[in-house]
Amino acid sequence: MSIRTSAFATVTLLRSLTLPFSQCHNHFRCWNYVIRSLSIPTYSAKGRRQLPRIPAFASSSSVEALVYDRDSPAESEEPLCSPYSNGAEEFASADLKHLGAPALEVKELDELPEQWRRSKLAWLCKELPAHKPGTLIRLLNAQRKWMKQDDAAYLIVHCLRIRENETAFRVYKWMMQQHWYRFDYALATKLADYMGKERKFSKCREVFDDIINQGCVPSESTFHILIVAYLSAPVQGCIEEASTIYNRMIQLGGYPPRLSLHNSLFKALVSKPGDLSKHHLKQAEFIYHNLVTTGLELHKDIYGGLIWLHSYQDTVDKERIMSLRKEMQQAGIEEEREVLVSILRASSKLGDVMEAERSWLKIKSFDGSMPSQAFVYKMEVYAKVGNPMKALEIFREMEQLNSISSAAYQTIIGILCKFEEVTLAESVMAGFIKSNLKPLKPAYVDLMNMFFNLSLHDKLELTFSQCLEKCKPNRTIYSIYLNSLVKVGNLDRAEEIFSQMQTNGEIGVSARSCNIILSGYLLSGDYLKAEKIYDLMCQKKYDIDPPLMEKLDYVLSLSRKEIKKPVSLKLSKEQREILVGLLLGGLEIESDEGRKNHRIQFEFHEDCSTHSCLRRHVYEQYHEWLHPASKLSDSDTDIPYKFCTVSHSYFGFYADQFWPRGHPAIPNLIHRWLSPRVLAYWYMYGGCRISSGDFVLKLKGSREGVVKIVKSLREKSMSCKVKRKGRVYWIGLLGSNATWFWKLIEPFILDDLKDSLQADNLNLEKAVNETYNINFDSQSDSDEEASS
Ligand SMILES: *[C@@H]1O[C@H](CO)[C@@H](O)[C@H](O)[C@H]1NC(C)=O
Ligand SMILES: *[C@@H]1O[C@H](CO)[C@@H](O)[C@H](O)[C@H]1NC(C)=O
Ligand SMILES: *[C@@H]1O[C@H](CO)[C@@H](O)[C@H](O)[C@H]1NC(C)=O
Ligand SMILES: *[C@@H]1O[C@H](CO)[C@@H](O)[C@H](O)[C@H]1NC(C)=O
Ligand SMILES: *[C@@H]1O[C@H](CO)[C@@H](O)[C@H](O)[C@H]1NC(C)=O
Repeated sequence: MSIRTSAFATVTLLRSLTLPFSQCHNHFRCWNYVIRSLSIPTYSAKGRRQLPRIPAFASSSSVEALVYDRDSPAESEEPLCSPYSNGAEEFASADLKHLGAPALEVKELDELPEQWRRSKLAWLCKELPAHKPGTLIRLLNAQRKWMKQDDAAYLIVHCLRIRENETAFRVYKWMMQQHWYRFDYALATKLADYMGKERKFSKCREVFDDIINQGCVPSESTFHILIVAYLSAPVQGCIEEASTIYNRMIQLGGYPPRLSLHNSLFKALVSKPGDLSKHHLKQAEFIYHNLVTTGLELHKDIYGGLIWLHSYQDTVDKERIMSLRKEMQQAGIEEEREVLVSILRASSKLGDVMEAERSWLKIKSFDGSMPSQAFVYKMEVYAKVGNPMKALEIFREMEQLNSISSAAYQTIIGILCKFEEVTLAESVMAGFIKSNLKPLKPAYVDLMNMFFNLSLHDKLELTFSQCLEKCKPNRTIYSIYLNSLVKVGNLDRAEEIFSQMQTNGEIGVSARSCNIILSGYLLSGDYLKAEKIYDLMCQKKYDIDPPLMEKLDYVLSLSRKEIKKPVSLKLSKEQREILVGLLLGGLEIESDEGRKNHRIQFEFHEDCSTHSCLRRHVYEQYHEWLHPASKLSDSDTDIPYKFCTVSHSYFGFYADQFWPRGHPAIPNLIHRWLSPRVLAYWYMYGGCRISSGDFVLKLKGSREGVVKIVKSLREKSMSCKVKRKGRVYWIGLLGSNATWFWKLIEPFILDDLKDSLQADNLNLEKAVNETYNINFDSQSDSDEEASS
């Protein structure tokens, strides 16, 4: 599952895109001196000349900018699928035959002068495909004395001819390491294309990168095939990679992609739910731009998809939507229901009641019932213009139709709380609870915030205890309650709640909750306890609210000779164990050039609920280590999916053990560290429970390392099966082994993740199912590949 994301940020700048290809070389193009390897943001100055309107394609970091949109809580509730997700698989494969690829000339066997060479080659052709990778490499090494470039090329082409693609790839990798190796553009292209057609995107990418590193531009076919391979992979990050290759195809290669390729990539970009797709807008606009400038036909879904993406932006570009609608009209394309819902969504964000009502009427004229999102957007637009009662009217309309969604409840409660309509908010909330719809949490947050603002602390307390019964309150809800307790001076209870938060790993304390309790202690004059919180906050590097700091300075000056001694950072035992577990699960460490300082790169998958839950916990766990740029000013807002620690020599030990030379490895002493907590975090970060109830853990590193782990698990009475695919090992714990494994790790599994007995890491399970097709029942093939 390793996808190159580093390539995302940079692209090689081609000095002259306009150079006609025919001038370069005869049957293949290789511009050794034309390409400069410059690391620059995706769109080069040259590129921009060709592409005037669209700014740089969003880097993956804009994914992190996805914040929960307070104005429209409804969106979390929308259909899990994008309206444009169907049919995203019909890829541009049909176009393959028309694509140019360089002709490859290889000598036939009988053209070779020496008889012995012919028979040796013929023997290798027969033998190699039958052997496992290790033996294959040994066999090849034994031929070093006589084998040359042409012989190896013959072998590779022969293997491809007889469809032994893997063998061909291995011989190619072996050949590259030989001193006589010469880069052969046509051969590399053929190999890359075979790999890509088989959807082996990482192998195809490897050869593709080789071609570029040789200073050549890959052929049109390779670009096309690699993009299609990425688009058909179910692995996270592949759409981004496909986009990178697509952009390079145009900017570096100067090739015009086929219509079907534009359309396939576009479909992939809009195939996830709106909140996950919205950062693809710039790339989608870029495809639109390419379609227009190359005079290709624009399918109606391109317009629909673009308007849909625009409607999900935090700041809606009204003009752009208007111009897209105008173009649609000129092209004679009717606005379908989905498009109108998008326009309603956008109008709601813009507070444009007139436009919203217009779209509403048009949607109504279609057959079928009004989508519940439409009600929600209409409520929101009226709230936006200060008319909560009209919003309530719309809600009642839904009620009559008996079609209230939980998003509708959330929205109307949010609106009523904002306008401090206490009685109405309470009565709608009662209906919400009775309806058994979920989730209740956002509505509880709104209610409690309102009670707090209105100093209705009794009501707030009642709401909190009700919330404890109905759902699991999170840190936000606990903090509001804590704040209320401090406000009314009930410090004993506040202390109790604070310590509950501290001991519950899933809730945890944050800068905000610490500041709240600190203010309580300072107000009540309990300086001893205030100092203790202060120490905790120093340790976690939480910012102290400035007004509290003044008071605290005074308190500390009474008791301490020296104020604010610098705290030296040290990982606690728990932090160390969690780190080891996460590293086994695939967490990355980045080292500086001299390998003096290292930082931990925390990265979580957005469409995996386990990760979503884990990231909050990990964020607070390592708060004192986080890079200032990763720290949020308000720790109760949503935690990003990617953050990193400061670069520190302290991590040297872990870097040397787990990431020597910048690649993942399994430490020699790993058997000493496989504690239950380590296993639990490994599982939560890089594992999954498959439908059968068995566990699968992902692991990267050497064979010896994996053997150590397997042995060590066996010593803990758990036998496991191992599968290897490429550089990834999968450790399977089956049957009673799985039961025992769960017993061991359960105490360390976050509460929210315990309930989900089903596969909780869908993304991984999909990968297990589809990409890797792992069948632990068959004989273990852990030594299927020994190279790379
Ligand atoms: C090898 O690759 C070609 C083209 O990519 C494909 O048609 C063929 O099925 C592959 N062979 C095997 C054994 O998978
Ligand atoms: C708690 O839940 C609310 C409502 O779902 C959400 O807005 C908030 O971000 C959550 N807080 C934390 C710390 O997860
Ligand atoms: C509470 O008051 C603050 C500040 O006046 C305001 O920003 C916030 O929106 C209010 N919250 C509610 C739920 O009324
Ligand atoms: C435990 O794992 C071993 C090795 O994979 C396997 O042979 C055995 O059947 C497993 N136990 C059960 C009850 O499935
Ligand atoms: C994985 O395969 C199993 C059995 O074939 C199936 O029940 C399950 O739904 C699949 N899971 C995913 C995520 O595709």
